[in-house]
Amino acid sequence: MQSNLQSKLHVAIIMDGNGRWATRRGLPRRIGHKMGIEAVRRVVEAAPKLGIGTLTLYAFSADNWKRPETEVAALMGLFRRYMRTEAARFARAGVRLTAIGRRDRLPEDLAAGIEWVEAVSAQGQALHLRIALDYSSRDAILRAAASANGADDLTPEGFSRLIKGESDCPDVDLLIRTSGEQRLSDFLLWECAYSELHFTDTLWPDFRAEDLAAVLEEFKGRNRRFGALPDRGDAEQVTMAHRVGA
Ligand code: FPP
Repeated sequence: MQSNLQSKLHVAIIMDGNGRWATRRGLPRRIGHKMGIEAVRRVVEAAPKLGIGTLTLYAFSADNWKRPETEVAALMGLFRRYMRTEAARFARAGVRLTAIGRRDRLPEDLAAGIEWVEAVSAQGQALHLRIALDYSSRDAILRAAASANGADDLTPEGFSRLIKGESDCPDVDLLIRTSGEQRLSDFLLWECAYSELHFTDTLWPDFRAEDLAAVLEEFKGRNRRFGALPDRGDAEQVTMAHRVGA
């Protein structure tokens, strides 16, 4: 059903810098997260027009439970509200939402809200929006390995399906992280094997649709080789490929 989205870009975003955005304005961190939701709305609306078929957003990592209880509660409240308020918008825009990560540690009403939005948005054909909640890539890989135990004919594609939990999700083409940090933080480690990386100093609440468009424009100029020789056979490109060991 999602085959039209499969052939489009998969962009993943580590939405970093909400806390600093708020602190710099003398505001509580939760206000930064609230403004972060506005940035989420902007990129979700812009994504289909920019050729993005799958958008995976890192909203809450398994390690984020280590944050103060008040901040965790504020985030859970925002996620809960997001599930409640976005369903109608998703229906209008043809967005299909799924959540990745553990469900068993989320508040029960949030887990139920996610299931409800997943069900009512399941027919969406314009964008597959994946929200990573209580997510750890290492945990996803370990669980996939456990469920594959004993399979001696396992292929990378088969293992990919076990990790992603769905057959129609392509690997990540482009990973963006905001706020100047340059690390993966246990996000989509398998799926990013050949993704292009883009780091920007912009704090997440300041990230606009135009920023996403500019990042994609720059991405389109990149020469992705997947370990092979470059598409363009000119001498300079070939030399470069050898220099990086491609
Ligand atoms: C990182 O900023 C951001 C988070 C841990 C939460 C991300 C959540 C949102 C953008 C809001 C809701 C999202 C959805 C999809 C409903 P930080 O707190 O680590 O910022 P800092 O590094 O400046 O402290």
